[in-house]
Amino acid sequence: MSAVTVERDSPESTQKRMEFVLPPLPYTQDALDPFVSARTVAVHYEKHHRGYLEKLTKLIHGKPEEQKSLEQLVRTAEGEIYDNAAQAWNHAFYWNSLKPGGGGEPQGELRARIEDAFGSYGELEARLGEVATGHFGSGWAWLEVDSGGRLRVTATADAGNPLREGGTPLLAIDVWEHAYYLDYLNERERYVEAVIAHLLDWQFAARNLPRAASGTGPR
Ligand code: FE2
Repeated sequence: MSAVTVERDSPESTQKRMEFVLPPLPYTQDALDPFVSARTVAVHYEKHHRGYLEKLTKLIHGKPEEQKSLEQLVRTAEGEIYDNAAQAWNHAFYWNSLKPGGGGEPQGELRARIEDAFGSYGELEARLGEVATGHFGSGWAWLEVDSGGRLRVTATADAGNPLREGGTPLLAIDVWEHAYYLDYLNERERYVEAVIAHLLDWQFAARNLPRAASGTGPR
């Protein structure tokens, strides 16, 4: 879904406002079952994701922020506008980070970058699981290229987003309880393991790689 992978610089405000409309899911609501159930996707997408966009639309109505792209708001806004803009961006990115029949191991340039940064895909998998499971409270686990061009696993609290620090997200895992509670109750680790093993879309991650600064990273 292009809205989260392509920076919108067009001065055409109508196009920008389209970003504040709930983007379609890239698959049907039952497509991630049994790892993330149709019920969870329905509530998460129809209530939570939609809710952030509706709140954002109200918050920016008649304000200069209404003319900015969603990504510009994630990079620059503060307070409630930031929180709702980032949650809208993060959720669109999260849905695209998953796919039915995902998981497995990345190939090509991304795999080489992972092996340079982490030693092996297995090390990355372990690190991602540890960070996503261990993050205290609501938030997000990310595979990102940081502002120095280094591939790394990070967690952000609440609506946090690596764009804020000059990073480029490659993949996101939502670790708010609403992402997993209906399916796994409090067992976040089981949700994280299932997402990593069966749902992560490594082709989506690879498509985000060119957006990252070449930087001074390991390659
Ligand atoms: Fe969420």
